[in-house]
This record gives sequence, structure tokens and C-alpha cells, in this order.
Amino acid sequence: MTSTWDALREKQAQVAGRSILSLFDDPARARKFSARTGDMLFDFAKTNIDDETLKLLSQLLETSGMAEKRAAMFAGQPINDTEGRAVLHTALRNLDGGPVQVDGADVMPGVLATLDRMRAFARLVRDSDVTDVVNIGIGGSDLGPAMAVAALSPYHDGPRCHFVSNVDGAHIADTLRGLNAKTTLVIVASKTFTTIETMTNARTARAWMTEHGGDPQVQFAALSTADELTAAFGIPPERVFGFEDWVGGRYSVWGPIGLSLMIAIGPKGFDAFLRGGQAMDRHFQAADWRENLPVLLALVGVWHAQVCGYSSRAVLPYDQRLSKLPDYLQQLEMESNGKSVQIDGDDVIGDSGPIVWGAAGTNGQHAFYQLIHQGTRVIPCEFLVAAEGHEAELAHHHNLLVANCLAQSEALMRGRSLNEARDKMVTAGFTGSELERQARHRVFAGNRPSVTLVYPKLDPFLLGQIIALYEHRVFVEGVILGINSYDQWGVELGKELATSLQPIVDGEAPADGKDSSTAQLVGYVIANRG
Ligand code: F6P
Repeated sequence: MTSTWDALREKQAQVAGRSILSLFDDPARARKFSARTGDMLFDFAKTNIDDETLKLLSQLLETSGMAEKRAAMFAGQPINDTEGRAVLHTALRNLDGGPVQVDGADVMPGVLATLDRMRAFARLVRDSDVTDVVNIGIGGSDLGPAMAVAALSPYHDGPRCHFVSNVDGAHIADTLRGLNAKTTLVIVASKTFTTIETMTNARTARAWMTEHGGDPQVQFAALSTADELTAAFGIPPERVFGFEDWVGGRYSVWGPIGLSLMIAIGPKGFDAFLRGGQAMDRHFQAADWRENLPVLLALVGVWHAQVCGYSSRAVLPYDQRLSKLPDYLQQLEMESNGKSVQIDGDDVIGDSGPIVWGAAGTNGQHAFYQLIHQGTRVIPCEFLVAAEGHEAELAHHHNLLVANCLAQSEALMRGRSLNEARDKMVTAGFTGSELERQARHRVFAGNRPSVTLVYPKLDPFLLGQIIALYEHRVFVEGVILGINSYDQWGVELGKELATSLQPIVDGEAPADGKDSSTAQLVGYVIANRG
């Protein structure tokens, strides 16, 4: 363990009992422990981080070589070194940036040409009689576009978009039911074009279309890096939108995988989304660490997860249209940094990236906030909220939303002491031991950290900024942990075992060699299906 980690742990032990509220004795705290880029404000004042902690965290940043690694990423070096790949989703939003070299060749002409083809195709679809678009994909080929399409619904002026991901036949059956096969476009989104869930759903959609009078020859498009496989599936090259292996699945919404979003909001809206991402890239590359939102978000994350040992973090958008953001961030953060081995093969020091979960506020308040406020575990919370909503006529809803968001972070920090709870119980008429018992149930420990990201309004540019902010946060946290954030070997074993189990579940092979639990479960399924 390095001395900076030791110093941080020591610091944490010293300040663990300190009240976060007491830090606000410094009248400049809110200003000092916040940062802005463009119109966004990131406030991390309601954490137990002080100047000294921040200095130690910055030393961690320094020794991790973050600045050099960031330069290597943007320069197209193969930083995903277990797969020998560059990591260049940033090139997809490099609208007016310079050349980006991979293996000595500028990738930008290809990126811009594909973007132009996407724009032309999106215009064609939007001007046609297509009423519905079904995006079939999973993981990064689903979560990004599904989240972004939901987030930007006020900007939709194209066909309706639907997303099918689960291999559970219920998903595609429920989605296709009620659609007109003659006016539906199916987009098969799969980087590899081998993912079993996606290919199974794609074949089912193709059969449905044929059976109901549509023409898969002209009503299917593909988003993939695998030209031969898309051709073998029967999708002509003019409707295949390719990308390179230097775009990771969970980072792919910026390119062809974002086609459904482009069809929904139009090429101009999509450009604004890309420009938002690019603006965050520039900020991440240029801003000093003390003003740098992705860096600060990452340092707060490391402080909470690796130093304080809080095992999860909740993402709580007070923005209904961002209700899919927690799902999206689960893949982005957990598939990237849920690893126990460092790049050099050594064990990760301490814990890997935390469990990420959450839901839109205020809904979550009526579900799991009880545990966040009074449970035994501390769960750092990340609030997101817009200054204004799109529904001008419903501004009173929005003010209520904002008040709830800010009230939650304040309540988490302040808590309610036993004495305050007793006062309430006295007012309610309790006395003696019953007063004491009732009061204890109404105590909030408080001192629970949170950060808040505020922005003017959720528009395409802003969404681009938010997504790129979280992507770079993942990068910085990964660098500090010494992790390769861009592979995902942890998803392989389950896939392999599913392949070997399929003939057993089909009843075509015995469960020999399987543990008795697995054999029993398969036996139950076989015995109980119709
Ligand atoms: O779950 C593993 C994974 O490889 C993800 O990283 C990826 O987003 C998803 O599967 C889908 O992969 P593909 O786009 O190749 O179908």
C-alpha cells in the first residue's frame, strides 16, 4: 500500500466522527468545494472532504499518472491492453477537432463519413412512412440509446422508438404486438453480431416481419463492426453502419449505436448531443484538476468507495427523463471498474469500483430512501437536477421536484438528533419511557455524504455533457485503481456455461457433470413445462 493511501486512511479515521455540517463554519465552503463547466455546477460541499483530504486525493491522482494516461487515451494508444485496443469513443464526437491517429492512420475521415451516412439514412427514415423503429441490442448496444431516447423525449419528432434487449421472448413479443410490420424499421445493434440474445431476437423479428407482410430485405439495418456477419444475415451494406474495435460497447452511443436516437431527434439534435460530449472532453483535457468535473467526481468516488469503504453509491436523478440513467451507469461503471486485478496482473489495492444503483426522484423517496436515511450502511448519493423543466405550464411541479432534491441532500447531512426527536415526541404528547422509545425511531444519524450536479435544462447538448462526464469519471477512477477499465472478461464465464447448459435445458443432453443443485433446477424446469 502506498503512503498516500495510508495517509488517506489515517485522515479518514481522524475525521470519521466529524460533522459535515460543521465544515460549513467556513462561509466559503460551498464555493470552494464545487466546480463549474459551461452552465453546469457540481457541488461536493456536502461530503466530509476538506482541503487536506483533497490535497491527498490529488497526490493519488498525480502518482497514478492520470494526465499522461489521459493523453495516451486521446492520442489513440492501445490503453485497453488486454485486448490490444485503443479507446477512442471520444473520436466519435470530435466533430471539428483535428486528426486522431490509430496505428499511424487518421481515423477521423472514416468517422465523419459514417456520421454523414447515418444522417442521410436518418433523414430518409424520418421522411418515409416508417412509424416505429425497433432497436434490438443488449448491454451497450441498448442501454445508451434507450437511456438517451427517453432523456430527450421533448425533442422527438421522428418515428416512435422501441428497445428490445432481453432474450426472454416476453420482451420481443410485447414490443412487436401492436406494431405494423410494413411500417416498422428493425435495427440490429451488435458490435460483434454474435451476441446470442440479440441474434435470437433479430431472427424472431425477421420471421415476424415476413409473416406480417413486411420486407426484412429493406426494413432491417445493422450497427456492427462485423461486416461479414451482417451480410450473412442478409442486411445489404448500404444499411450497415460500421464502427471500429476501438469503440467499447458501453461507450458506443456516440456512433452508429446511437442511430435510433438520431432518428428520434433528428441529425441536428444528435449533433448537439455530440457537441456536448466534445465540450466535456475539452474541459476534461484542459481544466486544472481543482476545476475539473470528471476528476473531482472521481476523487469523491475514490474517497467514498476505496477510502471510507462505502460499498455502493446511489445515482438519483430528479429528472424523470433520466430514469434510465442509473441502469446505464451500472454498465458504464460496473463493467468498467468491477475488477480485482490491476493492469500489471497484481491484485487491486482495497476494493474495486462500487455497486451503482438508483432511481429517479421523487419515486425513490417512496421506496428505498428509508434505508439511505436510517439504514446501518452509509450510501453516498449523487443527485442530478435541472433548474427548469420542459413543461413551462407545470413549473410548480418542477419547483416541488427541486425542493425535494435539495431537501434530501440537506436531510442526509443534517439528520435529526435524539434531543430534536424527543422534542417532537413531547409535542405529540408522549411521556416517560414511551417518549424515549418513540423518539429513538425518529432519529436520523445524518452526516451522510452527497454530491449534486445542477444544470439549466436537459437538452441534447447537456445530455452529451453528462454522459461524457461520467465516462471520464470512470477513466480517472480506473487509472487511480490501476485497472483496465475497457475490457470485460467477467462476463465470459456465464456465457460459456449458458452455451453448455442449453442442450441440457432443451432436454437433448444429460446433466452429467453438473453440480446437484444445477441438475435439480434443470430437472424441475423440464418436469414443469407444458
Ligand atoms: O455484456 C458484455 C458485452 O460485451 C457488453 O460489453 C456489450 O455492450 C454487450 O455485451 C453487447 O455486445 P454486442 O454489441 O457485441 O452485441
